[in-house]
Amino acid sequence: MKRELELSKYPSITYPKMSVIVTCGEKRVNGIALTWHTSISRKPPLFGISVAQKRCSYDIIKKEGEFAVNFMELSHWKDLHYIGTHSGRDVDKFEETGLKLEDCSFIRTKRIAGSYAVLECSLYDEFELGDHSLFVGEVKKALIEENEWAGKVVARPIYQLGSYSYTTVTGEEVKP
Ligand SMILES: Cc1cc2nc3c(=O)[nH]c(=O)nc-3n(C[C@H](O)[C@H](O)[C@H](O)COP(=O)(O)O)c2cc1C
Repeated sequence: MKRELELSKYPSITYPKMSVIVTCGEKRVNGIALTWHTSISRKPPLFGISVAQKRCSYDIIKKEGEFAVNFMELSHWKDLHYIGTHSGRDVDKFEETGLKLEDCSFIRTKRIAGSYAVLECSLYDEFELGDHSLFVGEVKKALIEENEWAGKVVARPIYQLGSYSYTTVTGEEVKP
């Protein structure tokens, strides 16, 4: 027997879903944890992130027109959770977590040195859709750790399971 959900809670049906940290801001870098994101197009390479208009990161991305998507391993779940439960209006999240930043190649904001993959994006379009905006980024650079790409090491990305719980993939692979 199925249970009926309150409609605003429907996204939980799509979980577990990979969570990332998006960095933005040139002078003072901010981070936001994001589970609502998607690949959109290969040509041009477009990636979408859904950000609530009330977030500090929303104002920064709107003003500066760029962001970096940082893919983190499960060992960083506490950092991601901290970044997703505090606002850049109140704290410097990188000072608090100790996550190290490094320069991007194509955009002015920084990326997280400890990520296993990163997408550097410049703002291509924005769609205001209800209480969130879909920022569409054009991917200017895509980096992944050599070992992950070669399949020698299986990345253990952070997946959001519930509102305050996380999991990862096991690396089990099935093929036709
Ligand atoms: C695991 C996780 C996933 C989140 N996913 C999103 C998301 O997809 N979109 C969004 O707007 N906020 C999301 N949030 C909430 C923001 O990360 C959170 O409100 C953050 O404090 C915003 O920071 P800022 O005000 O510095 O931008 C998520 C939070 C967590 C913990």
